[in-house]
Amino acid sequence: MTQFVRAYSEHVGVDGSGLLYVEDVACEELAAQFGTPVFVISEAQIQSNMASITRAFRSRYPRTEVLFATKANNNLGVRRAFTLAGAGGECFGYGELLVTLLAGTDPKATVLNGFAKNDRDVTLAVKSGVAIHVDNRGELEQVSRIATKLGRIARVGLRPRFLMHEVDELRSDWPGAGSEPGGESIGANLRVNYKNGMPLGEVVDVCREALADPAIDLVGLHYHAGRELADVRILQAVVSEQVRIAARIRDDVGWVPEYFDVGGGMAFGRPEGHGPLARDRDVPSYDDYADAIIETFTDGLTKHDLGEPRLMIEPGRAVASNIGILVSRVVEGKYVPETGQTWIALDASQNHLMNNQSGGFYYHPVSVTEAGRPLVAHTNLVDQNCWDGNLAFDIKFPELARGDLIAFLDTGAYCESKAATFNLTPRPATVLVSGGVAEIVTRRETLTDLLARVEVPQMLSKELDLPRALAEADEELALPTPRRINA
Ligand SMILES: Cc1ncc(COP(=O)(O)O)c(C=O)c1O
Repeated sequence: MTQFVRAYSEHVGVDGSGLLYVEDVACEELAAQFGTPVFVISEAQIQSNMASITRAFRSRYPRTEVLFATKANNNLGVRRAFTLAGAGGECFGYGELLVTLLAGTDPKATVLNGFAKNDRDVTLAVKSGVAIHVDNRGELEQVSRIATKLGRIARVGLRPRFLMHEVDELRSDWPGAGSEPGGESIGANLRVNYKNGMPLGEVVDVCREALADPAIDLVGLHYHAGRELADVRILQAVVSEQVRIAARIRDDVGWVPEYFDVGGGMAFGRPEGHGPLARDRDVPSYDDYADAIIETFTDGLTKHDLGEPRLMIEPGRAVASNIGILVSRVVEGKYVPETGQTWIALDASQNHLMNNQSGGFYYHPVSVTEAGRPLVAHTNLVDQNCWDGNLAFDIKFPELARGDLIAFLDTGAYCESKAATFNLTPRPATVLVSGGVAEIVTRRETLTDLLARVEVPQMLSKELDLPRALAEADEELALPTPRRINA
């Protein structure tokens, strides 16, 4: 195993010669073999994160299931690694559900969420035994109709709209979460700006309908608040409100959920900064979250005499951020004496770090090979796109020249799955590293892929051989793409 003199996570770090490694493969080697930009994922970090979070929760409450939020990284290879590490699945839509099931995830530890679901999504969930979290009354009818037609019994959970007054005094620090820093309180934000969930007043009636329906097996309660702030009090408020509502439902209709699903939203941070405006530094650990959640949960269960149901958590960023990095090459640089700034253009872009563009997210950049070079103040790392494209602004960074490599840390969550193609930029390849082996799990996009859906109408297509033009362009742009290397 590579010995790190500086570790950014357990499996990403710098060795004695100043080179950045993911497990036992040097990032310089990955860039040379697979081209840049390239997402690199560490399989060992997936295993380690899953083991740590599972231990943190199960040591306090053995009946906990960790459902990896597939939206955070819907790459099938990555999803499979999470599944093999023991994760269940949280899914939105047909595609995520299919990928989660193809990865071999246990359907009993998989849930389908969503504000509005298509018949095809519900059909796949019913056929595979995945619990469907109904978001409104109409959806219960939809599930019942589909289950009846299939001759199956659908597993169903309810997603009520909580009031979340317990966090009215807390303020969100993420502009992308719907409120400006110092703006709406988190409680108000969750009540007013979030579309998901059925009105509280309907929950007992929907519950009665579900219990009376032979095509429905009512199994759970669900809520998701999201990362509004790196603070355990949000999830504590979710848990205490969920338990209170469960007690009210039990008193009214005699039903007790088989599981409580408290959603995701646990933060990920690093000392150098991550997340909204680089604010996530000293965030609660898995143990801190587990302590707060389980204490509130077990107190509530005892107080309301609700037995010992399963507890589901749906982490995305907390278990997937530090599993990956984005390796990128310097394309060009310039110094502007008038402002004292150094602008460095990279082949990675906001297209590949979409939360940077939409939520002011910071991904900490590090040098891949340049350890020991002098630091340059007022460096701006930017992309080649025609948007502002400031990936890291006004930082101190080792001196860079054309062709040098840098890596953005913690890009394992919401980067590949949100990557876009603005300015007709093909999306990067993704490589999964396991020990000394690196293998492609998403091949690099080509212009032919990018324009595959484009049709030129006959009246405009004279003398245009699009497939040939694209094939020629792809040859021109072609990067080395081995499927597997052994370092
Ligand atoms: C229902 C649900 N569960 C889990 C998650 C994962 O959230 P996070 O990555 O903040 O843990 C999300 C994210 O949007 C979600 O909508």
